[in-house]
Amino acid sequence: MDDHLYRQRAAERALDYVENGMAIGLGTGSTASCMLRDLAARLAEGRLHRIVGVPTSEQTAALARKLGIPLTTLEQHPSLDLALDGADEIDPHLRLIKGLGGAMLREKIVAASAQRFIVMASFSKRVERLGERSPLPVEVVAFGMPLCMRRLAALGAEPVLRRDHTGEPFVTDEGNLILDSHFGIIDDPEALAAAICAIPGVVAHGLFLGMASLAVIAGPDGIVELECPDASRR
Ligand code: A5P
Repeated sequence: MDDHLYRQRAAERALDYVENGMAIGLGTGSTASCMLRDLAARLAEGRLHRIVGVPTSEQTAALARKLGIPLTTLEQHPSLDLALDGADEIDPHLRLIKGLGGAMLREKIVAASAQRFIVMASFSKRVERLGERSPLPVEVVAFGMPLCMRRLAALGAEPVLRRDHTGEPFVTDEGNLILDSHFGIIDDPEALAAAICAIPGVVAHGLFLGMASLAVIAGPDGIVELECPDASRR
């Protein structure tokens, strides 16, 4: 079956956690887009009422507006009931790599603002160890890019400046650059996250550690729901 159908199924199941009157975080990416379409349908059919969403990117905001999903801001809703988003890799501890869509800074802020963060994905995103398939995106301010490149390389990565389809440097919604940092297998995600955060000029990185409370994963054998094994976040 097409991977897109699994994303769609995961998104539909994740939406079952949304209740009337909730303020929710709206993720970015193809799985999040499936979720937005289904959310719009549920709102139109009257299966859900009084939902407002905080988008994690301009792309998500545009799609939500087009679909008629009411939007809000973190100023108006500093505490969200739930955040729903995709991921690029999910390990058995529900640690994630995110950011291949370039939105991880706002995604992390929105997820951290939510009482519950549910990640939804196709089974193809499951890994035993982070870094198996995906580079780690690191968002940096343009002025600090040369230093960030050198420091990331010193941490063992091969950082590559992300470019858009025209060949120009990709610029995030917050006006920054992204260094896709190829670390290979990440042995100690917590230590790496701390080391990356200590580099002057780094604004965000794609390691989401201790944030997801539930992963809804769809594959050929159906849907599995994985609760976070560490009780640090509920
Ligand atoms: C966006 O910045 C990313 O974090 C996405 O959540 C991630 O890339 C997953 O996207 P897909 O659902 O398109 O795989």
